[in-house]
Amino acid sequence: GSYGGQYRPQVHFSPPSHFMNDPNGMFRDHNGTWHLYYQYNPTKSVAGNQHWGHATSQDLYHWTNQPIALFPPKKNVYIFSGSAVIDKNNTSGFFGNQSNGVVAIYTLAEYLDDGSPGPQSQAIAYSYDSGFTFTPFDGNPVIPSNSSQFRDPKVVWYEDHWVMVVAYAQEFAIGIFTSPDLIEWTHASNFSNQGLLGLQWECPNLVRMPLYTEDGQRRDDMWTMLISINPGAPVGGSITEYYPGTFNGTHFEAVDSVARIADFGKDNYAGQFFFGVPAEEDPVSIAWASNWQYTQTVPTAQEGWRSAMSLPRRNYLTRIDRVGWKLISSPYDMQPIMGRNLAYNQSLVNGSLTVDFSDIASNAVYWEVNVTGLPKKGIPEMATLNFTLLSPITAEYIRGGYYFGGDNPFYLDRGGAKGFDNVFFTDKLSTNSLFCNGSWSMKGVMDRSILELFLNDGVDSATATFFATQPLTFLIISTSSLPHGTRVSTRVNALKSTWQ
Ligand code: FRU
Repeated sequence: GSYGGQYRPQVHFSPPSHFMNDPNGMFRDHNGTWHLYYQYNPTKSVAGNQHWGHATSQDLYHWTNQPIALFPPKKNVYIFSGSAVIDKNNTSGFFGNQSNGVVAIYTLAEYLDDGSPGPQSQAIAYSYDSGFTFTPFDGNPVIPSNSSQFRDPKVVWYEDHWVMVVAYAQEFAIGIFTSPDLIEWTHASNFSNQGLLGLQWECPNLVRMPLYTEDGQRRDDMWTMLISINPGAPVGGSITEYYPGTFNGTHFEAVDSVARIADFGKDNYAGQFFFGVPAEEDPVSIAWASNWQYTQTVPTAQEGWRSAMSLPRRNYLTRIDRVGWKLISSPYDMQPIMGRNLAYNQSLVNGSLTVDFSDIASNAVYWEVNVTGLPKKGIPEMATLNFTLLSPITAEYIRGGYYFGGDNPFYLDRGGAKGFDNVFFTDKLSTNSLFCNGSWSMKGVMDRSILELFLNDGVDSATATFFATQPLTFLIISTSSLPHGTRVSTRVNALKSTWQ
């Protein structure tokens, strides 16, 4: 596939052609290479015919497409989502003396002749060559079932055994299974019916999440369950929910009964955490940057592809005033894609900055705004910070803005981009972004047809696709009515294409 095209992201992963959904099997191998697999229909630009596509990277931004890793084993049976682990102690017995054997754990999804879903069962395949080629285990499935709603196994290592979380999608339950060898699995417990239910639970993750104090010190770890809900998100379609809690090797218990949503955009689903990131480092995730409500109709099909992945993110938990437990997600080290500086302004108080980046071939930019010196009280309701990305040709735009007074709402508006018309493609999204210690910040990445925002260093984040008929090539950042003493600094950089 060619990675040109007005909508084709330049710093995000997208498939060479046709349709992609969930990230699968992500791990970092013994050489430090990152492996990304993904739900892939290599023959059509809509979902179906699921294979595992494969790509590798040294830095999580520059990806090399690899041959398809897993193929449907027979007619009407497909490879649905799942995970991969490195079986370094050869617990499975597949690998002899090898310490870098890889085992993929995935759902075999069968369809009946009338096209309705048949049984979904969990299967494994092993790889001697670090995840490039796999052999399905001849004893598959390792967890048989008669249910047509049992899928998306995610496996982690806990002290002395393997742990799988897997969704009983329409029972709103996550099964927790244990195994000594990835082959014999024992059902240990269920985590169910807590928080938001929607209409299905999918793609669970169980992550040992570092806990940071407010001043940025890493303290304990805290297990966190993440569950993707689709359909039935409050903003429509697909979203991700998370539950901080405790895990003892067989049972997960949430700290409280609060429902928490991970990303306030509409295009962040089925996120998965990489296996093989050392415990001293923050866990790294990638999500599918789309939504089942409209993913199969987006106009990128005119360029021969559909769906991109989110930026890679590093994640941790913290406790925030008034908000309580919060998952913090920010872009993984962006140095490999950071291009030249386009604007730098240290005093954007009640002023505006316009950056024309039409000569930047990637049509991808990064910006950050840091606001400090905000008083505790008495901020006028109309004190705002706004950004607009604009096409000077059609006047199409996407924009967002923050109100420093009142209850601190932040809005994101993708309705000024006119290349896609779909009733479920919600235009306006918002959150409330409290600030503390008189400072507030925003980081943004615009990559042709994807916008990602990180407020207050990732306390709130949003992933939103957008489709204008012409490239957006102007960035305008402005502030108004800010109280005396406030300081605003802004930086805008080009992003370097990882595909050209
Ligand atoms: C989530 C999902 C998974 C399933 C896969 C099929 O987006 O529905 O539950 O395994 O996609 O492609």
